[in-house]
Amino acid sequence: MKSKKLAAVAAQSNEVQADLVLVPVFENGLGDGAAKRLQSGFGNSIAAQAEVESFSGKSAQTMMVFNGDKLAAKRSVYFGLGAKDKLDPRNLRTALAAAFAAAKRAKVQTVALAIPDLSGSAIDAAEFGRAAAESVVTVDYVINHFKTEKGGHKKEVHFKGLTLVSDSVDVGFQAGLKEGYVIGAAVNRARDLVNMPPNMMTPMKLAAQAVKIADASDGAIKCRLFKRGDLKKMGAFLAVSQGSDQPPVLIELVYEPKGADRSQFLTLIGKSVTYDSGGLDIKTGGSMRTMKCDMAGGATTLAVMEAVAALKLPVRLRVLMAATENMTGGSAYKSGDVLTSMSGMTIEVDNTDAEGRLTLADAIEYGKQQGATHIVDVATLTGAMVVALGKVATGAFSNDSALVGKVMHAAKAVGELVHEMPMFDEYAKANESNIADIKNSGGAGFGAGSITAAWFLRKFADKTPWVHLDVAGTAFNNNEATGWGVRTLVELVRDFATPHAEARVPGAAADRACAGE
Ligand code: BES
Ligand code: MN
Ligand code: ZN
Repeated sequence: MKSKKLAAVAAQSNEVQADLVLVPVFENGLGDGAAKRLQSGFGNSIAAQAEVESFSGKSAQTMMVFNGDKLAAKRSVYFGLGAKDKLDPRNLRTALAAAFAAAKRAKVQTVALAIPDLSGSAIDAAEFGRAAAESVVTVDYVINHFKTEKGGHKKEVHFKGLTLVSDSVDVGFQAGLKEGYVIGAAVNRARDLVNMPPNMMTPMKLAAQAVKIADASDGAIKCRLFKRGDLKKMGAFLAVSQGSDQPPVLIELVYEPKGADRSQFLTLIGKSVTYDSGGLDIKTGGSMRTMKCDMAGGATTLAVMEAVAALKLPVRLRVLMAATENMTGGSAYKSGDVLTSMSGMTIEVDNTDAEGRLTLADAIEYGKQQGATHIVDVATLTGAMVVALGKVATGAFSNDSALVGKVMHAAKAVGELVHEMPMFDEYAKANESNIADIKNSGGAGFGAGSITAAWFLRKFADKTPWVHLDVAGTAFNNNEATGWGVRTLVELVRDFATPHAEARVPGAAADRACAGE
């Protein structure tokens, strides 16, 4: 959705000016609330149709209903929210996504969404508005493509507007809608960056996107680029870039709003390998094919910065993206090489395909030198993560229970799945090197590849509270970027801004749902 036509209005069913109305229904609640009200206005009986289609309002179930010609809205889509007392941020979003997807399939341009009676559920008005805006914007996303007219280019059809319909307009809906729009747009931003073909999203192209986002922020975001000559101390990051003809670049974005707590500096670090061939430990064609996704962490952190500045959240935030390709050119780094990282720690290269941790090690050290009090890195780091948790959940690894607790809490509040992984000391042994301070792979025989990778990073984070999110399984699915993590991290930043969850409006209900478990 390109335009920001999102509005909350109070309207009766016969006043709804939209092509299609989405009507939420709690399980077995066809005769209640919004469903009942709209039904009486439309004058159609849906009970019979519901029976034929076995529509009971189960979460994410949908049913298309024709309203007749008298009304502007010719069609409705009834969609299930499941049991009211089980409504949570995740199943709410799943249901809304199913509803908007049904509207999308119907090729309508303007959509109205009725608001159900949320009393007795853990979701408040702001949360509902936010989830609705997030969903409409993310469902409306179309992957970039490069088809010419001759090649069968199709004109994209986008939603033109979303109206929320309720008996009374709660200001919370308005606030939630605005916020959800910004967050949904940020999710799409991350997806766009990742979906770009790797020849069009080189390190310098990624840097250009960061500059563009900073330039559009009215001075709120400062962006600096460090080129090869500026990076001499970053021996680990530079080594990864050696095999590529594309110059590496460290992208730094800083946001320091007035009113932010000066005792905290949250630093987000996104793995930004714009293409991972594996280097000399080259990947097979099959596993290389999707490796444009290897800058998804960077795309996520950049999108989070954009959203945080747009939402004017009062938190000091630094984003670091050590952008490079991992290639096999004549100057490529080799297994057996010993590198000196910015921290001074020496690293034996055991495997050139374990490049992400090398780039992150120097970014973590740089972040610390710039005063990071909390570090969260997001990285498509290991195939082993996909083995462990599949495409369902992201693994979290940490040296600080308070910070990882905040991350898990944020994920829960926005409906993204995170599972905390163990970091027993025993796993650290796999990275011991005979000739250097550490080696960059635990070796295939040891197993637990996502944990040994996390331990490598942890040695660089050292005493700074740090969380590592391995999004290798969640960032990219069915050959498309998901934007995983944008919502969680924006929520984390909000949490930094307002540590007392009850004090802020949007999301407060989700926090209660969380705390009540
Ligand atoms: N970028 C890959 C990890 C990856 C795999 C991301 C699948 C997304 C989907 C990473 O750089 C990598 O190659 N990791 C190696 C590490 C190993 C050589 C120690 C891996 O997981 O095989
Ligand atoms: Mn790799
Ligand atoms: Zn990689």
